[in-house]
Amino acid sequence: MLPGQAVSGESCLVEAARGGAALEMAMSLTTFSAAPAGVVGEGVARGGRNAATTKVTVPSLLEKKLLRQPITSMTAYDYASARLVDEAGLDIVLVGDSLAMVMQGLENTLAVTMDEMLLYTRGVRRALRRALLVADMPFGSYQADEREAVANAVRFVKEAGAEAVKLEGGRARAEVVRRIVGAEVPVMGHVGLTPQSVHRMGGYKVQGKTMAAIDELRADALALEEAGCFAIVLEGVPRELAKVVTDELQIPTIGIGAGPDCDGQILVLHDIMTMTFSPSAKFVRRYANVADVMLTALGEYRRDVEARTFPGDAESYHLSVETRELMELKGAVVG
Ligand code: KIV
Repeated sequence: MLPGQAVSGESCLVEAARGGAALEMAMSLTTFSAAPAGVVGEGVARGGRNAATTKVTVPSLLEKKLLRQPITSMTAYDYASARLVDEAGLDIVLVGDSLAMVMQGLENTLAVTMDEMLLYTRGVRRALRRALLVADMPFGSYQADEREAVANAVRFVKEAGAEAVKLEGGRARAEVVRRIVGAEVPVMGHVGLTPQSVHRMGGYKVQGKTMAAIDELRADALALEEAGCFAIVLEGVPRELAKVVTDELQIPTIGIGAGPDCDGQILVLHDIMTMTFSPSAKFVRRYANVADVMLTALGEYRRDVEARTFPGDAESYHLSVETRELMELKGAVVG
């Protein structure tokens, strides 16, 4: 389903059959972009789920900067978690190439391919109703050739339903940004600690610490804005520098490890949920320990299976009395 479209009667019935809740059904019957504030929300506002209903768009994010309203974003890579991020009312869902590390267990983001990014983005697309869907352009998909970069950005829109793409780098990427924006695909920039430059940087290190580096970063951000980016991720930079850049730009900055003065914040879902297996970076706040919850549940399941207490009778299907009798007549011992 594309954003802003009414949910069909069929999906409404599927929803009702799955959850059984009348409120869920009411939610499915509503066109999200058209619903008056509160109508959908009253239906969804349970268990901490958010009441927001208005579709997030590129212009609405610019408006948030003007109104000084913080922009909320999170990564997601699959249908279920994207659906929860959307229901929680966050503005942007980024299918980040960080999925190489948190979903695929790779050491860095460099190996993930266009086809893999498209696959994950399609799953997330099906989950989102309100949030803006941004897809990360993987390493190698935009650096070599501008025509190829435009073609790859267009693939994210056409084949996976993305509403914008993100790419890393500053002035060196200004021309490619211009070309992609010229092809009607909104672009989010990304400067500071850019994980695709891990080998050049010699590791994941805070950027913008010397006067020269500060000047470079400010020039990069201004060049990206000038080239047409609608927002810029500032990653791993001193908070003072992030504030200067945020004040200098007309477009929103989205910080990760860049302090509280950016126009918005983004984190990696697996980090805040404790679904990672190494110590987290200084800028991560852990909001839940999903690993502990899953380990406890899985341990209980294993014990129940080993003790033969799962499945119980209530979790089993039964033959009809007639079929049972027929089987017994044929000599079967029906337990
Ligand atoms: O890939 C990613 O998850 C990102 C965000 C952390 C900004 O680029």
